[in-house]
Amino acid sequence: MTKLTFLGNGNMAKALIKGLMKDYKIEVLGRNKTSLNNLKNELQDIEISLLNDTNDISDKNIILCVKPNSLDDLSPKLTGIAHSLYSVLAGTKIETLKDKIESKNYIRTMPNLSASYLKSMTTITGDEALKQDAMKIFGNIGNTLWVKSQKELDIATAVAGSGPAYLALIAESLADGGVNAGLTRADATKLVQGLFEGFSPLLNNNTPASIKDGVMSPGGTTAAGYSAMERCGVRNGMIEAINSAYNKAIELGKK
Ligand SMILES: NC(=O)c1ccc[n+]([C@@H]2O[C@H](COP(=O)([O-])OP(=O)(O)OC[C@H]3O[C@@H](n4cnc5c(N)ncnc54)[C@H](OP(=O)(O)O)[C@@H]3O)[C@@H](O)[C@H]2O)c1
Repeated sequence: MTKLTFLGNGNMAKALIKGLMKDYKIEVLGRNKTSLNNLKNELQDIEISLLNDTNDISDKNIILCVKPNSLDDLSPKLTGIAHSLYSVLAGTKIETLKDKIESKNYIRTMPNLSASYLKSMTTITGDEALKQDAMKIFGNIGNTLWVKSQKELDIATAVAGSGPAYLALIAESLADGGVNAGLTRADATKLVQGLFEGFSPLLNNNTPASIKDGVMSPGGTTAAGYSAMERCGVRNGMIEAINSAYNKAIELGKK
């Protein structure tokens, strides 16, 4: 069984470990004894170790799961050349990873919050030699998309990494609309939860335009609601949101 070594044991590490432990041996290196022990108690079949001042990562398959701003503190404590480095760090370029941690191959990924339910939409790029392994590893926490460049990964970050926040705004405002028109908050919330659950298979089998055409009858309620959304600039707001998030990813990548 291939062994994966996690550096960091926070939310993203935990989500990944849950999805991976049936197919891989898992080793976790962290800096906090209590949180490491809690993880071990919860997941059982993993090895845990405290990070020391020097930690040999020679020939290991590393999954880097710390925050981007922890990299400068962590990297001097790592010695040797890893076999592979898979990073989930938002905005951190492969060039920066190469400067900080030695490895034979590098992969950069962007999972999203749905990883905690093994339903992430994860975008992946990096060394082609690791493409298959990377798609398999991250396929354990949901859907994967391989892209050829870090530019595309930054755009994907804006769409699918930040996406849960944008959909949360849509969900909340739909429920607000229901409450505004007279529903209880509980009923409005239940309606929106069911709406999102049922929308997923629709979207997997139809284009957005055909879904819209399927619901909208001439002069009907959907047409009235839809034209109100266009009048209020919802479409343009979404396009601008992706543009702004992408530009922010470029800006953060330069730091
Ligand atoms: N959460 C998401 O939705 C999401 C989505 C996409 C990408 N990511 C990326 O995933 C990475 C981890 O995010 P997260 O949500 O899992 O964060 P998190 O829950 O805060 O976990 C961060 C982990 O890194 C450890 N750590 C922090 N500084 C360290 C240091 N100097 N040396 C060693 N370990 C250190 C923390 O240890 P302590 O517990 O001791 O602080 C913790 O175990 C980030 O780079 C983020 O960009 C997250």
